[in-house]
Amino acid sequence: MCGIIGYLGNNEASPILLESLRRLEYRGYDSAGITTIHRGKLQTRKAAGRLVNLSDLLVRDPIRGAIGIGHTRWATHGKATVNNAHPHSSNNVSVVHNGIIENHREIKKHLILKGYSFGSETDTEVIPVLCQKFLDQGCSYKGSVHKTVDMLKGQFAICFLFEKNDDLIFLARRGSPLVIGHGASTMYVASDALALAGLTKEITYLEDGDTAAVSRNKATIYSKDHQETKRPKSIVSINAIDLHKRGFKHFMLKEIHEQPKVLAKAIENVSADNWLASTSASSLPFKELEGINLLGCGTAAYACAVASYWFENLAKLPGRAEIASEFKYRNAMIKPNDLSIFVSQSGETADTLAALRYVIDQQGHNLSLLNNLISTMAKEGTHSLPIHADLEISVASTKAFTCQLIVLLGLALAIGKIRNKLEQHEYNEFQEVISHIPALTNIVLGLSDEVRKIAQFISEFPNALFIGRGLMYPTALEGALKLKEISYIHSEGMAAGELKHGPISLIEKSFPTIVLAPSDHLFEKTKSNMVEIQSRNGPIILLSDADGVEDISGEVDFSLTLPKVHSLVAPIIYSIPLQLLAYHTGVIKGLDVDNPRHLAKSVTVE
Ligand code: G6P
Repeated sequence: MCGIIGYLGNNEASPILLESLRRLEYRGYDSAGITTIHRGKLQTRKAAGRLVNLSDLLVRDPIRGAIGIGHTRWATHGKATVNNAHPHSSNNVSVVHNGIIENHREIKKHLILKGYSFGSETDTEVIPVLCQKFLDQGCSYKGSVHKTVDMLKGQFAICFLFEKNDDLIFLARRGSPLVIGHGASTMYVASDALALAGLTKEITYLEDGDTAAVSRNKATIYSKDHQETKRPKSIVSINAIDLHKRGFKHFMLKEIHEQPKVLAKAIENVSADNWLASTSASSLPFKELEGINLLGCGTAAYACAVASYWFENLAKLPGRAEIASEFKYRNAMIKPNDLSIFVSQSGETADTLAALRYVIDQQGHNLSLLNNLISTMAKEGTHSLPIHADLEISVASTKAFTCQLIVLLGLALAIGKIRNKLEQHEYNEFQEVISHIPALTNIVLGLSDEVRKIAQFISEFPNALFIGRGLMYPTALEGALKLKEISYIHSEGMAAGELKHGPISLIEKSFPTIVLAPSDHLFEKTKSNMVEIQSRNGPIILLSDADGVEDISGEVDFSLTLPKVHSLVAPIIYSIPLQLLAYHTGVIKGLDVDNPRHLAKSVTVE
């Protein structure tokens, strides 16, 4: 999603800004731009599309200056054009902004009446113009910024640059993250501490409502009420982002293949007998719990849906999985003995963050499962646990999903044991089942060529259906999401039993169904659904184990034989061929699988 970077130092700013924007590229964007100050003048270059368009422009038409701000934009208000790209400027102010200004229409109207004009379709442009109005009235830089942010409704991270002042970047943060990085007579600003990897390890996190005046030698921070305040510096060990594909054609494929390794690490962390007791979550009142809310967005929401089965079966706790964006707005009831678990790879997803804040406001117990432990959710939540997936670059989540599942499963088992719902021997048996996952994952990765043949078949259709029962139902939802994200094939996941209640009307010979049916207690029922599809000429791709495939023996268009696994861990094993299916289909269709259209890695607007 949108990314912000700022630099104040003694070198040329534009190459540094460009390099940092490259580190933010993986988040997803559709235009980019930078502004520097040279000899007191603001100079801006912007380009639609990939960063290479901006760097080409800077070669043709360079800008100088040792101070600057840069931005990658993911379009919300207005198309992905040069005109709408950030930075946005008025006469003396240039601004980059993440987030949304909800009252931009009223402000724009007011400013037009005062004689100010606008050149873009964005909500952002009201910020520099409003700030300009206050400067025109004689306010100081600080006064103008404070008066501006006081008028804004919504959420934002903003950097302001002022013409004629080449030693000041003013910052404002409400809702969207913003950090200051400290160097020697040099300061950096970023929306994501990861963007500063390799530049500095000394980071100050702004708190919600903060503003800050940053110059080369100091940063003065003001709290919500505009009084000067102090925020601690942290030493953050951010590994330089590994932007290498290490022999793989795409990051998505590399990350799919990293699963045996990262899953082994995640398993190691949740397999010891009392592992939960040694984490920050140990103080949660597990014995008294009466229910679990599981909240996330996209792939993380499907990890929650899988986990709701685990919490009910292993910890005997009602597990309610819900899309985070809906939770707050239906005024969900948080009971004193509920635990709300938030699942997010980035820890920055605005919808999940809003749900977390809602629970915190109601003093509900909360625990976040995160891949990024220096994220806003890690800072604001009461407890957080890592999922150990390492950095995930590809927009489509793969290894983060399976690592989320491992930690959720480990949690359900640990809570089940603490609540005496699992005997020690049962706990040990389940841990034994889990310990085989990395090896099983390796076996499934070996089926990649077979999956490619299925992908070739699927790639010729405009639609696809994914069905499953029990734990295969949320797995089907995730499989459908992956395929639509990467291949742009319209795909839906649903409970196999629901097919006959409407969706079966879609079935015909050009509408394939991917059936997830391990040979377990639900197999016969899912088999009946397959027969219903066949009777209506619908092509079928069956994912099952050897027993299941043999049972159907040749009655389907394609079958993929997966290892026979305990039904508890089947969602982890079955999601891997679904990731490969989406990947190969996207590649066969000639699409940019690492940067699918319109998508962002971390969605920081609601
Ligand atoms: C975006 C991404 C998805 C991701 C979702 C939740 O929509 O494109 O891949 O699953 O956000 O992200 P999170 O970082 O909260 O797990």
